Amino acid sequence: MKIFYFTTTGNCLYIAKNLGGELLSIPQMLKQETTHFKDDIIGFVTPCYGFAVPSIVCRFMEKHTFEADYFFAVMSYGNILAAGLSEFEKLANKSNIKLNYTNEMLMVDNYLPGFKVEDQLAKAPSRKIDEHIKTIVEDINNKRENSVGKLSVGMKIFSAIIHRYNKSLKPTIDNRFSIDKQCNQCGTCAKVCPMNNIIVETEPKYQHNCTFCLACIHNCPEKAIHITGEKSAARFRNEHIKLKEIITANKTVTSPAQAGQVVCHS
Ligand SMILES: Cc1cc2nc3c(=O)[nH]c(=O)nc-3n(C[C@H](O)[C@H](O)[C@H](O)COP(=O)(O)O)c2cc1C
Repeated sequence: MKIFYFTTTGNCLYIAKNLGGELLSIPQMLKQETTHFKDDIIGFVTPCYGFAVPSIVCRFMEKHTFEADYFFAVMSYGNILAAGLSEFEKLANKSNIKLNYTNEMLMVDNYLPGFKVEDQLAKAPSRKIDEHIKTIVEDINNKRENSVGKLSVGMKIFSAIIHRYNKSLKPTIDNRFSIDKQCNQCGTCAKVCPMNNIIVETEPKYQHNCTFCLACIHNCPEKAIHITGEKSAARFRNEHIKLKEIITANKTVTSPAQAGQVVCHS
């Protein structure tokens, strides 16, 4: 079993590790020559971004082909998934993948302009994350089948409005980030950025090729990076995942151009 995952604060990596199999980081796979993947089971574990699929995951799906007897997708989210999974299903269909099984995982929301990390962490125990993961593991081991649930009309309209907003986001969105005097030029921000968008000189310099994943902000050991409108000074990383695992998953490519930039049209 191969599992492709994308993570910035560890939730998806935590899910993927629990599912087992061969774990393949999407930012790393985008650097490789291989364009076709084959296994008996292939799974995708991705966060929901803006009720949709992160653009880096879109690019990975669009550039690769897959062959398996059983396909699954798990999407982690923090508050409202809305069309997230159905957007992933559309993307998969475009790659000729018929998903046999999908599920969602309500975890901790890392969207700092929307939520206080402290409030999100307080909600986590009631979300019974480990119990839910166990159910998913059992479902996949038994190759259970299901289909993505239908959205209500209201949710479809809501999602469409947000999708329009997502498409308006430009790679220059890193103009919204600022660095405070706690920065000690450790370079962690550059290492966790899946876009190779940060060069650390006297302080981190953003190259305006941002995919808006907030990895740099959450993983800064000094909490020195900020986004306008952030709801708390606290930062989040899944308690079971180490910083070095995020670095290994996302560490920089050789040039910003190689990292590319896409807008998801799913
Ligand atoms: C840019 C951005 C957009 C997000 N949009 C949503 C969303 O639409 N709905 C939601 O419930 N969570 C949203 N989230 C929260 C993440 O989906 C959630 O925290 C996820 O578990 C993070 O996974 P990771 O730790 O593997 O990166 C968003 C996070 C970011 C950074």
